[in-house]
Amino acid sequence: MVIGLLAIAAIPTVTGVSLGISEERKQKARMEDERRMAKFYMDVFCEGNSEKAKSLDGGRVVLRDNKVYIDHVDPNRRKKPAHTAAAFYIGYPDDDEKRGDGLVSTVSVDPPMLNWIYADKNTMELKYGNRTQSIEHIVGHWDWTEDETGVILAEKDLWAAVEEEDGVWAVYYDINDNGLAGFVDSARTVVEISIDRNIIDKPTDSNTNNKNKT
Ligand SMILES: *[C@@H]1O[C@H](CO)[C@@H](O)[C@H](O)[C@H]1NC(C)=O
Repeated sequence: MVIGLLAIAAIPTVTGVSLGISEERKQKARMEDERRMAKFYMDVFCEGNSEKAKSLDGGRVVLRDNKVYIDHVDPNRRKKPAHTAAAFYIGYPDDDEKRGDGLVSTVSVDPPMLNWIYADKNTMELKYGNRTQSIEHIVGHWDWTEDETGVILAEKDLWAAVEEEDGVWAVYYDINDNGLAGFVDSARTVVEISIDRNIIDKPTDSNTNNKNKT
């Protein structure tokens, strides 16, 4: 089940393994993998002026019932109990197509489990699940923005929060950049957001940097 994913996450990706690559390049590839696998919280940035936009700004991406929501940073102040997403990038295992990096997140702490985060191709809801559940949907390429602070999918920063119930906000991928027309009932409030990478730990090889962290 999730074991497969754990196994994938436990080994470095194969970037540096092909023949003829110099030690230096291998080393670089390893460091790049490590950077890509640095875990981060996903925090919401929302610059709108409305009450609702302000309530979303500074929220955190959380997971429950196979869907991705925005709720309070403090687990005790959440509307509903949810797991705090702790995500990182890793190549999506796909035999047929190259879809680049997937986004993996912890989905529970005990037992530790990982799932893929993906956009449902029919509804544009962000969801999480194993490979079988995710493979027919939009699973990548997940990336960071040029300054590495933002999370993007398929080269686009097109995130939207949709108020599915009073004060309950789900994350959607606004694929056509038009407020999810055709995907979400027009009576629902849709707010454009960005998702920031809030790095949890520095990579293990940067102990010296850690000391400088305030
Ligand atoms: C993926 O998850 C579904 C739903 O929980 C489950 O039925 C299925 O067995 C899982 N598939 C694999 C390959 O683990």
